[in-house]
Amino acid sequence: MTTKSEQKGAGGGRRRRDPAACHRKGPRRPAARLLQGDCLEVLGTLESAGIDAIVTDPPYGIGFQNERWDGTALREAARRSGRKRLSPNQAFEVWCRLWGEACLRVLKPGAHLLAFGSPRTIHRLESGIEDAGLEIRDRLMWLYGEGMPKSRRYPRGRATALKPAYEPIVLARRPLAGTTEETIDRFGTGALHVDGCRVAGRHPANVILGHEPGCGEEGCAPGCTAAAVDACAARAHPGKRIAPSRFLYCPKATRAERDAGCEELPARVLDLFPNAKGKAPARARNPHPTVKPLELMRWLVRLACPPGGLVLDPTVGSGTTGAAAVLEGRRFVGIELEPSYLEIAAARIAHREGEVHDPGCADTGGRARRSPRPKRGGKR
Ligand SMILES: C[S@@+](CC[C@H](N)C(=O)[O-])C[C@H]1O[C@@H](n2cnc3c(N)ncnc32)[C@H](O)[C@@H]1O
Repeated sequence: MTTKSEQKGAGGGRRRRDPAACHRKGPRRPAARLLQGDCLEVLGTLESAGIDAIVTDPPYGIGFQNERWDGTALREAARRSGRKRLSPNQAFEVWCRLWGEACLRVLKPGAHLLAFGSPRTIHRLESGIEDAGLEIRDRLMWLYGEGMPKSRRYPRGRATALKPAYEPIVLARRPLAGTTEETIDRFGTGALHVDGCRVAGRHPANVILGHEPGCGEEGCAPGCTAAAVDACAARAHPGKRIAPSRFLYCPKATRAERDAGCEELPARVLDLFPNAKGKAPARARNPHPTVKPLELMRWLVRLACPPGGLVLDPTVGSGTTGAAAVLEGRRFVGIELEPSYLEIAAARIAHREGEVHDPGCADTGGRARRSPRPKRGGKR
């Protein structure tokens, strides 16, 4: 058994408020279970066909910030599977196939998998999981204006890359057991939960838009993606007040959202730009470099998982999918390689479970609240 430790109910998380005061209602069954280890191994210990949806943000295979888990570790796993002399991208695709096969086994027939990717390697992720036996159903796009160009600059106005402004999210499905209707009847899976994800009453789209830092109640900052779509819609319908309400608007996670629940954890170095010269790194209680916004993860959880169902994130990081799942009334199991990230995930998920069960003790009052648009000039 490779699972080195298990934290049920994310109870390892500590909370800023008086825990005694927040647990007056007595013990409750925890909705979340966290497992530490390599997901390629830990997935093999889970029951087959027990998961209603996988919502995850796996390694992108781009050597992100020189993290071992996003480079060498993937290549080693591909080599262990018997494939030698692979390019880094080929190795990533092999890893995605191995990971996809392990996910396929634990998903119920007809259950969906939503996985973030990088524009540079999404084709490998999709090919890997398709070769594993999952059906590719769609590719969602999360568009935002907050990306930083990570480009080398050369004389005469030349550079090596564009500013990142979207993240793709692959939507895949384990093949149905019979027809869609039969799969829905037998397993409760097979179809997306669009009614839980409508935006202003309209059928949800496969594009999600983000605001710019600096957008607020009074209006949007220059360059805001959401404002650009508003402007196009207004031009197409002169004289009418048109809102592009088919799109979910979701900014990147604020520092407060990333750290919520981690108040008693030590502040660690936050080195988001390791190659930047002359800047002293800041410190944060949740220094995970790729935290996803809670509102976006809640929407994805609602879309893919039936109410009350079991969501899996095999690469849970600082636990945003788990926090989203408990806020949406789903059960959750998460796997993470790094013990320090698992500790943060436990704290963040426990904090959100507290909101659901003890709304009086919560910062945001529980599940129904949407992230407000930040005040003009506010930090995200
Ligand atoms: C992109 S991050 C996920 C971040 C997460 N979405 C959040 O909001 O915090 C991917 C995570 O997968 C973990 N990871 C990488 N390879 C893994 C493996 N083989 N098994 C389990 N976890 C792994 C990394 O340690 C990292 O924390």
